[in-house]
Amino acid sequence: MPGFLTRWLRHGPPRATEDREFEPGKLPRHVAIIMDGNGRWARKRGLPRVAGHRAGVESLRDIVRACVDWGIAILTVYAFSTENWKRPQEEVEALMNLLVEYLRRELPELKKEGVQVRAIGRLEALPLPAQQELARARRETAGNNRLILNLALNYGGRAELVDACRHIAREVLAGKLRPEDIDETVLKGALYTGDLPDPDLLIRPSGEMRLSNFLLWQLAYTELWVTDVYWPDFRRENLRQALLAYQQRERRFGGLKI
Ligand code: IPE
Ligand code: IPE
Ligand code: MG
Repeated sequence: MPGFLTRWLRHGPPRATEDREFEPGKLPRHVAIIMDGNGRWARKRGLPRVAGHRAGVESLRDIVRACVDWGIAILTVYAFSTENWKRPQEEVEALMNLLVEYLRRELPELKKEGVQVRAIGRLEALPLPAQQELARARRETAGNNRLILNLALNYGGRAELVDACRHIAREVLAGKLRPEDIDETVLKGALYTGDLPDPDLLIRPSGEMRLSNFLLWQLAYTELWVTDVYWPDFRRENLRQALLAYQQRERRFGGLKI
């Protein structure tokens, strides 16, 4: 049975008619987003930074739903970096509380939508309530397969590579692996995203032209798309623009146009 028919039978017709605009088969499988610009969004309105983070949660809800509607398989969002601990304690605490609140409030909806929640990063350093809510969300959505929502929390691309090296070194010490067997497949498999394909498209709102330590290995051949829109203003319409731009790109992976 064709894939779209299975989908239709299982989930019903697509909610949005707009998806006809996309070229079939040319949507990215994996979209990554650096959710940036919350502070500037708040400052522009004379509000505390935390208000920007709170508004950013609404963008995440909207974008998750759009990804489900449009058949994106994986959405990885950068929510807290290993460097974000440098911020005032009050802001860090507010971000952690928002994470807990988001997971508690959204879990029923995420389950209903068929979203599988995952997380990447040094999760053991997160406050206990955040770890507990994450564990619950992961457990209760493990069987879902419509969209993988991958939350990058206390995530750093360099920390991830260090952790991968440690993992591989332990395997070598245990005699399970010889140094000459270490290749790109082994290294990729040792990353937090080991079983996921690399992102096809990276979106950075708020106009910054940098990676800020996000998915350093995985973004090697990812298409980049930057917008000046701050994350709390980013909605499915902005995602649509990014997806349409992606469809115009020619991905060569170092080869020649065919
Ligand atoms: C992104 O928004 C959220 C996190 C980093 C957690 P920012 O807080 O970085 O917003 P700006 O960049 O200061 O505008
Ligand atoms: C990247 O944004 C991290 C997240 C969005 C979670 P930052 O605001 O921390 O990045 P820099 O400091 O501007 O590079
Ligand atoms: Mg920022």
